[in-house]
Amino acid sequence: MKHDHSPVLPGSGATDYARYMRTDTLLGLQRSPGEVIHRDELLFQVVHQSAELWLKLAAAELAEATARVAAGELLVAEALLVRAALAVQLITSEMEMLRYLSPVDFQAIQPALGKGSGAESPGWRQVQVASRQLGRAFDAQLAHRGVAAADLRPVDLSEPLHRLAEAMVEWDERVSLWRVRHYQVALRIGGHPPAGTPGSPANMLAKLAGHRFFPELWQARTQTTTDE
Ligand code: HEM
Repeated sequence: MKHDHSPVLPGSGATDYARYMRTDTLLGLQRSPGEVIHRDELLFQVVHQSAELWLKLAAAELAEATARVAAGELLVAEALLVRAALAVQLITSEMEMLRYLSPVDFQAIQPALGKGSGAESPGWRQVQVASRQLGRAFDAQLAHRGVAAADLRPVDLSEPLHRLAEAMVEWDERVSLWRVRHYQVALRIGGHPPAGTPGSPANMLAKLAGHRFFPELWQARTQTTTDE
């Protein structure tokens, strides 16, 4: 029997897949071979553009997690936060592709980038804002329940509040691991002198790798069992 593959969805595109996924638009978002000044622009754009998509998903999951925390649905919030953390893990892994971009080829691409820097990433900015909002919603829940962050030790995984706190610690850790990986990439490809060298952007990147959105949850973990 022959299947009928003619599209049923509205919109442009030869198939329903193309219409729903908007592949014509998506695959037109990279500079064409005629436009590029260096062929590695495709690699560079694919890594950054796909990172923007994963960050868009991460920010959306964080925003929903925040709403669920405010509603007291802590286990749903935990599951959403775990998804967001996986998105950041994926963009950390995709940094591997930049291993194959040499400093010489990166320099050749740079005129095409203008003054652009990943520091201007809209996805990253959204994720920062959403993380801080989550922290505020969590603090409000703690206050509502009369629990201090320090009391979240020892970890009791049968307790939804503790499970959520664990997911928040993982989130912080995944963001930091991305930053550590990105720092290495910046040294390797950007040719920046390492942290400790005055004036190097590496100083800021190394400092940011130690940043935590939820320091009190990390502080709670530092208490030794003898304190309890
Ligand atoms: C060739 C690869 C890359 C190099 C050499 C590089 C280099 C740098 C440098 C030097 C900075 C410090 C700020 C500045 O001077 O502009 C920076 C910041 C940043 N870059 Fe990259 N980067 C690369 C790839 C990426 C990728 C794939 C992303 C993914 C979105 C990204 C996102 C960021 C972010 C978010 C910051 C702000 C720092 C932070 O919040 O930790 N970069 N990058």
